[in-house]
Amino acid sequence: MSAIQSLAALLKAVAPLSPTMTVSDVADQFLQPAYKAFLSLPIVDAQQRPLGLISRYRLQDIFMRRFGRDLWGKHSATEAVNPDSLVIALNTSLDEAARIVTAQLQYPITEDFILVDEAGCYQGLGTVLDLLKAMEGRIDQRNRALNRALRELKNSQTHLIQSEKMASLGQMVAGVAHELNTPLGYVKNNVQLLRDLVQPLLALAEAQAQLSECLTNPDTPTETVEARFSRVQDATALASPGTFEEDFTPLMEDTLYGLEQIGELAVSLKDFARLDRAMSEDIDLNDCIRSALVIARNTLKDKAQVITRLGQLPTLTCTPSQINQVLLNMLTNAAQAIQGNGQILIKSWADAQHAYLSIQDNGQGIPKAVQQRIFDPFFTTKAVGEGTGLGLAISYKIIQEHGGNIRFASEPGRGTRFVISLPLNQNQPQQRSA
Ligand SMILES: Nc1ncnc2c1ncn2[C@@H]1O[C@H](COP(=O)(O)OP(=O)(O)OP(=O)(O)O)[C@@H](O)[C@H]1O
Ligand SMILES: [Mg+2]
Repeated sequence: MSAIQSLAALLKAVAPLSPTMTVSDVADQFLQPAYKAFLSLPIVDAQQRPLGLISRYRLQDIFMRRFGRDLWGKHSATEAVNPDSLVIALNTSLDEAARIVTAQLQYPITEDFILVDEAGCYQGLGTVLDLLKAMEGRIDQRNRALNRALRELKNSQTHLIQSEKMASLGQMVAGVAHELNTPLGYVKNNVQLLRDLVQPLLALAEAQAQLSECLTNPDTPTETVEARFSRVQDATALASPGTFEEDFTPLMEDTLYGLEQIGELAVSLKDFARLDRAMSEDIDLNDCIRSALVIARNTLKDKAQVITRLGQLPTLTCTPSQINQVLLNMLTNAAQAIQGNGQILIKSWADAQHAYLSIQDNGQGIPKAVQQRIFDPFFTTKAVGEGTGLGLAISYKIIQEHGGNIRFASEPGRGTRFVISLPLNQNQPQQRSA
């Protein structure tokens, strides 16, 4: 027990009165400067056991009566004692002492309390005022500790949110890298084939250049002209426009398609990761869905067939990178809930006040017993290293900060449907997470 926790810290070494004193003697004691600060004085017996406290208030009461001093002055002090005074053991903790004192406190406060050692012998006085002050100090101390803990908690929450963001960023980058690889692979192949295809064309161009050079020179011997002419004919046969066109056109088209896919991924990635954290106006939620689907394509492709039914939506004000983070988590959750091959249905629609989007999977569903907890930070049913349990907690916070709402319905064994609503009219200033 630390000193500040112990009642001993509040002990006032007040010399006790003896039972042989008279009431007048006690009244005189109260006038002594040493006792000025006390509401009451203790009386102890020969074994130092407290008999009780005589309060200043009680004496005043007696002496204010008519002939009070004459009638009472010579009486034994024990007659003015309150035998039910508060007696508290010195080793009691401050909290416990405060509990005992406040439980018996009467107004006005007219008495202090007696402190005794383990054997029950008088050790000194404690005053209610000191006790209250000490408690106030402790409350301050606790508040400070609580504030510190709150700050630390906030810090670690920020770190966790950051690491969850990094994790979803990592997941996204891995997915996109994978997606980029396929078109990159065949674009590279096609370009190599095209290079081979172009070789005879280059040879023909070169033969034609040599022929035209000797044709423009009247001194060229006829044999040379003929030899060059025949080279041109050979080169023309190798670069026949028919074969060329047959191979060239589909290769070119494939290559262009691959490049378009790469371009589409690059745009989605840029939209998705938009680092400007500011709220943007005029965001079409359907665009967010499309870009999240491109990013999640790698996660989803072996898991689920994705069906989208996107309705016409008015534009709204939001932070697209945050909405994308929510969508990516919802899509990942849906894919992770599906064992084998399933289906994910994504819909969007709007009414006069809100835009809605729903993500529905036919995965394993959420057991009734945990449905209340899925938005709790760190709640996860996934294996260690697979889920941190922060995805939905962060998603909930993001949607809430956008003035919206997330609801869900789940049927274990049949699937889950999350519905996000976002207000169309966002006149109120929005908060954003750091
Ligand atoms: N579509 C869903 N189907 C079934 N269970 C779900 C679905 N979405 C969420 N859950 C349940 O809610 C829990 C919490 O989801 P949340 O996204 O917060 O964390 P996580 O996916 O476990 O981990 P993290 O998102 O951090 O990788 C999941 O572990 C899972 O049990
Ligand atoms: Mg998740």
